[in-house]
Amino acid sequence: MRLRIAAGNWKMNKDFNSGIELIKALKEGTTAQDGVHVILGTPFIHLKDAVAMTADVGHIDIAAQNCHQEEKGAYTGETSASMLHSIGIRYVILGHSERRQYFRESNELLGQKVRRALDTGLTPIFCCGESLNIRNEGWHARFVKNQLERSIFELSEADFKKVIIAYEPIWAIGTGVTASPEQAQEMHLEIRNAIAEKYNQSVADETTILYGGSVKPANAVDLFSQPDVDGGLVGGASLKAETFIPITNAFKQA
Ligand code: PGA
Repeated sequence: MRLRIAAGNWKMNKDFNSGIELIKALKEGTTAQDGVHVILGTPFIHLKDAVAMTADVGHIDIAAQNCHQEEKGAYTGETSASMLHSIGIRYVILGHSERRQYFRESNELLGQKVRRALDTGLTPIFCCGESLNIRNEGWHARFVKNQLERSIFELSEADFKKVIIAYEPIWAIGTGVTASPEQAQEMHLEIRNAIAEKYNQSVADETTILYGGSVKPANAVDLFSQPDVDGGLVGGASLKAETFIPITNAFKQA
């Protein structure tokens, strides 16, 4: 069975204390479910405390939101995968559309980051997704497949099997407009088929593919009920316990 995941992406939100309060509330308010992981993608300032606070909770893991592609060196302001690993981090979000857009991260650069993360023992949560223009022009499946081909499809099968994918249509991120469950399912199946074509069907069947873009308590059950949607990567609704906890529980009804 594929691992199912409710992952929060806090982005650049929360000061130190309010972040710690949120982790406490999520620790108290979420429950362990078979085959389900809750992952919190916190800002860097929370990571070490977040790991310590959740060390005794098996179902919660912590993710960083970025790492550098090089092992170490003169890269002022950057954080390496091994630094993250050294404080107990096991997941890293890579390829988010905000990183691609505002920090000019290309598929090739992201391929390097993914390789560095894997070499260091981190599991990448790799984001892909099309803009509204591309969706309206009707070549979203081809666009997303190209993003994968030029980054994570360069990996060996053994490495690829460690990657989690998040399909996040840019037009649905932070807009309140969610892809319909059918739109999400269609693209998740496209991605799964592309994996089967590149690797094989059993790799495709084992890959966890999350949906991201305005996931909220009101739509999480419908989205997570789709056969190829294995959970969500959640921005806005992950910033409050009262909206994120119901999303983590959506699997029970899906
Ligand atoms: P959103 O963000 O849930 O606020 O749309 C999702 C994301 O960017 O991962």
